[in-house]
Amino acid sequence: MTSRRVVVTGASSGIGAATARLFRERGWDVVGVARRADRLEALAAETGIDTFVADLTKQADVDALRDFVAGLGPVHALVNNAGGAFGLDSVEQSDADDWIRMYDVNVVAVKRVTSALLPLLRQGVAEGGSADILTVTSIAGHVAYEGGGGYNAAKFAAHALMAVLRLELAGEPIRVIEVAPGMVKTVPTPSTTTFPTRCRLKTSPRRSCTRSNSPRTSTSTWSRSSRWPRPPRTRSSAGPSRPRLSGRSRARGLDKREKRGSTVRRSRLLRPRSRR
Ligand SMILES: NC(=O)c1ccc[n+]([C@@H]2O[C@H](COP(=O)([O-])OP(=O)(O)OC[C@H]3O[C@@H](n4cnc5c(N)ncnc54)[C@H](OP(=O)(O)O)[C@@H]3O)[C@@H](O)[C@H]2O)c1
Repeated sequence: MTSRRVVVTGASSGIGAATARLFRERGWDVVGVARRADRLEALAAETGIDTFVADLTKQADVDALRDFVAGLGPVHALVNNAGGAFGLDSVEQSDADDWIRMYDVNVVAVKRVTSALLPLLRQGVAEGGSADILTVTSIAGHVAYEGGGGYNAAKFAAHALMAVLRLELAGEPIRVIEVAPGMVKTVPTPSTTTFPTRCRLKTSPRRSCTRSNSPRTSTSTWSRSSRWPRPPRTRSSAGPSRPRLSGRSRARGLDKREKRGSTVRRSRLLRPRSRR
């Protein structure tokens, strides 16, 4: 075996693009998958990865991806990263179609790709001794927040999917990994933006940002930090600085929740046993 191969979904931007770059830097053969061919081409030109254009909510595209990857050889790792959130409306007010889209891309697409590539991952096991399936869920798959109904439901489901898969693959040397990020600073593009819309940052000098929601052409995620820029961090030892967003943004509650979720989890881990 000369090199190991990883398939990274959602490689056209954000976490997926960064993941593809990192694997490539470490000598892996990478297949980056997404819908936006131009962005994949740019990444391929920069890094030398293989790319495949696919809408992972479509079974025919996933079948074509499987055939493409099979032509390259065994797979040693799969990173199910493609996903995102649509909208911040309440359960009562939100659009059911948004929920369906979120479930489709964050859950069913993970199932589709995992099913399609498992035989190739088993080939990777035969060749290299082990393989990994990693799915990027979210802290939203573990902690609820107001306005998060559809995304929470989808990411909780993705979390459950990974737990089931872990049981079903027990005994095979295929590791099932879930990464549940809190807020991640990524660089969104207009085509990936479906988040609202307006924000203002209370810093000096005052800065504001505005983004349009329409048309909803693609996923959006939790890439808010670059849409809603933060003041520079000035403290490191006393814990993370908090974003200071205006009280009007409904998304502020989301930020706090997500942050709080991370903090709670961390503090639980750090708490001494006797005090539990
Ligand atoms: N950023 C955060 O703060 C954060 C926090 C927690 C969890 N997450 C999760 O991390 C993952 C990546 O998020 P990100 O922030 O990097 O978002 P992003 O920059 O918007 O990337 C999402 C990626 O998914 C791809 N994608 C979306 N729908 C697809 C589809 N139907 N078929 C194929 N590819 C599709 C997009 O590519 P195309 O549009 O080109 O198809 C894009 O490459 C997501 O699962 C998100 O839920 C993010």
